[in-house]
Amino acid sequence: MTIKRLSEWLQTSTNTVILTGAGMSTESGIPDFRSASGWWKNIDPRAVATTEALTENYSLFHEFYKMRLENLEKAAPHEGHQILADWEQRGIVSLVATQNVDGFHQLAGSQKVEELHGSIRSIRCHRCQQAASMEHFLSKASCSHCGGKLRPNVVLFGESLPQISWHTSMEAIKKAELVLVIGTSLEVYPVNQLPMMTSGKTVYINLDMSQHATPFDLKIEGKIKEVLQQLEV
Ligand code: APR
Repeated sequence: MTIKRLSEWLQTSTNTVILTGAGMSTESGIPDFRSASGWWKNIDPRAVATTEALTENYSLFHEFYKMRLENLEKAAPHEGHQILADWEQRGIVSLVATQNVDGFHQLAGSQKVEELHGSIRSIRCHRCQQAASMEHFLSKASCSHCGGKLRPNVVLFGESLPQISWHTSMEAIKKAELVLVIGTSLEVYPVNQLPMMTSGKTVYINLDMSQHATPFDLKIEGKIKEVLQQLEV
């Protein structure tokens, strides 16, 4: 019943925006953060995903992101990513705003993607901001320009979000007729404020239904790939 209703909403909406989180990529073999098998179940995020971690304990910081990059090499977008890219091709989806840093939406063919938490696939120097190569980062080299520490272009806890991505996503969601929030616990500010900013209908697709801070017009409990495959648009 809920699948049928969402299919109808997708067919009639003239402006649908998608907001995704780590749950979008678990079926590609990439752990999320807060479910039972998530990264934060046995790693303290403050020890690896903050600027303090970067400056105070670079070895642990570097090991964490190197491991995630190696994990990424062995993974690929799944059919759910491809369905969202197909919906963009067909004019059904106007934007994918994602908290994910894996680049899977783009790899699957989505072109209108805003990476609200940056990307793990590009590297810069933390001190002089100069771009650096992935090889240099993986080999734990220092910045060839200033000798500073190299880091992925992800948003670490406490850092501000990329302003253009944030405003583009916020404006799109405000104007959307339909917002699908997919595979996110909505635990992290300020992205968790976005769903409430729309005047359109809101839908939550997730395995874990325990988040109650954000009211939704429709909630679908299930695995993302299966739910997206069942939708008839
Ligand atoms: N199908 C449906 N839901 C899923 C699936 C799946 N296959 N796999 C995981 N989920 C759900 C989990 O139940 C969980 O509620 O996706 C959600 C993922 O939540 P988090 O792990 O908190 O990930 P996310 O919301 O993206 O985290 C936001 O926190 O650590 C930071 O920067 C990091 O971008 C990340 C941010």
